Amino acid sequence: VNTNAWPFAEQLLRLASAGSLPTSTGNRDLARQSRLLVDFSHGDVAAFPPHPRVLADAVAAFSDPHSAYSPYRGHGSVREKVAANLKPLIGREIDSEAELIITPGTQAGVYLALSSLVGSGDIVAIANPDYFAYARIVTYLGARPRYVNLRSSEGVAQLDIEQLKVALAEGARVICLSNPNNPTGAVYDSAQFREIADLCERWDAYLISDELYSRLDYGGVPIAHAWSTPGLGHRSVSLLGPSKTESLSGFRVGTAIAAPQVIDGMEQIQSIVSLRAPGYSQAVLAAWLEEEPCWLSSRVEAHREIRDAIVSRWLEIPGLDVSTPRAGSYLFPRLPALAISPMELFAALRNDAGIIVTPGAEFGPGGEESFRINFSQHAEVAIAAVNSIAEFIARVAR
Ligand SMILES: Cc1ncc(COP(=O)(O)O)c(C=O)c1O
Repeated sequence: VNTNAWPFAEQLLRLASAGSLPTSTGNRDLARQSRLLVDFSHGDVAAFPPHPRVLADAVAAFSDPHSAYSPYRGHGSVREKVAANLKPLIGREIDSEAELIITPGTQAGVYLALSSLVGSGDIVAIANPDYFAYARIVTYLGARPRYVNLRSSEGVAQLDIEQLKVALAEGARVICLSNPNNPTGAVYDSAQFREIADLCERWDAYLISDELYSRLDYGGVPIAHAWSTPGLGHRSVSLLGPSKTESLSGFRVGTAIAAPQVIDGMEQIQSIVSLRAPGYSQAVLAAWLEEEPCWLSSRVEAHREIRDAIVSRWLEIPGLDVSTPRAGSYLFPRLPALAISPMELFAALRNDAGIIVTPGAEFGPGGEESFRINFSQHAEVAIAAVNSIAEFIARVAR
């Protein structure tokens, strides 16, 4: 943002000061250049297309004049179906009238939740590393991110509870995290969420739990959901949507589940920002989570195969630290010592090999030596690119 060119509002200038724009995704101009081998900054919906039913549902919605407009929180019939279909996944009943809102993407859900609960001067505890949007929105709102370190062991996420206690003692009243974690793919189990629930109870705090990737689950430790964690449901916002596992990112729909007064607050903000989630996309959302079980399991298995192939290739690179994600489609390796800076390596990968990765610094302090890839790609393309990355690293390793 050129601050001299226009009288921009203070909050936009704050956002500009929070760092450069995150690595953009879906750059079609770049994709048209024949040099682009793979854009690892987001999943490839051509490699993993939406369920075939989606097209018919979208066309039917478009032909129905009633689907265009909905109440701000979304069509009642769609909320009813989504609430019923979410129950087996997240383990607790949802009152579709009072406890659920349909948003234009999970991203909007994060924004509505944070802007309902956080004001200027507040402190928000954010897991580190975590999805870059949380700190950016918090900064935009005039609040301060307070990072709490996240470690993982065998794919189980462990938030540094001592650091979280300090953050709460310093005044944080909202905690924001993704489960599964973007970028590491580690998952918080129910024991971790119960600890967080106890702290929220003690400090009268709220958890915003972004559970967008919880369906891309490779098994093992069950992924905890805030809504069904005892003592946490009424103190949390759970965010879920069909953008990732179901490849519906282009429809811009998501859902948020929370106590009625929080949903009311989020709806107030939605009514001045976007009015509602796109009506036609809401109609597509109605059948979300109703795919045949084999559709989901084959999608998960295909991702598991790509994940394992990449991890085993990267384990051959001396000094590269990579762990196997328990869920989701991200890998977050840490580079070995290099003769050039990590940013120079990422630029070389982009310019010389047509490979886009997301710099680790975008996910929080200390991420400078790491990078993220989204492995929801055509397997052969991803493996070829991963081999190239390995060759680039070998060339500049110290
Ligand atoms: C953790 C997380 N939350 C939210 C989003 C935004 O997703 P949506 O397309 O549902 O807005 C993303 C997108 O990458 C994400 O990684």
